[in-house]
Amino acid sequence: MERRKFLRSSCNACMYLAAGLILPGLSGCGPGTFPVMQAEISHGEVSVPLTAFDKSPLQLVRPKGWYYAIAVRKKDDQTYSALLLKCTHQDNPLTASRGGYSCNLHGSTFYPDGRVARGPAERTLKTYPVTIGQGQLTIQLKS
Ligand code: FES
Repeated sequence: MERRKFLRSSCNACMYLAAGLILPGLSGCGPGTFPVMQAEISHGEVSVPLTAFDKSPLQLVRPKGWYYAIAVRKKDDQTYSALLLKCTHQDNPLTASRGGYSCNLHGSTFYPDGRVARGPAERTLKTYPVTIGQGQLTIQLKS
């Protein structure tokens, strides 16, 4: 093998190896490992089929045109909550997990109900009212 081909193939192997080591560590960026459901806004509301909660009590919904997602959580008492995943410290998008929400900018964490677990954030997350009907959960965005 000539020197140039050897160097090229070696560099490619190093890039694939580095990508394999780095990419799994990026899973904490963005909304987290939960899929984000895109949703159309109609009359200031967004609807989510209740069947979405059959597999997981937490669904992330991003209204069309929004930068932030909304975390919709089915609680143990079978009621639902909807929280805007926008850090109340300096507006960074939050990462969702089963245990709550975290901010990768300065380290704030929030409980599943939106209260601050660790600062520097001091305010609870914004909540939206939700209603249930005809197999749909509706998030009222005008609140
Ligand atoms: S922006 Fe989230 S902790 Fe600062």
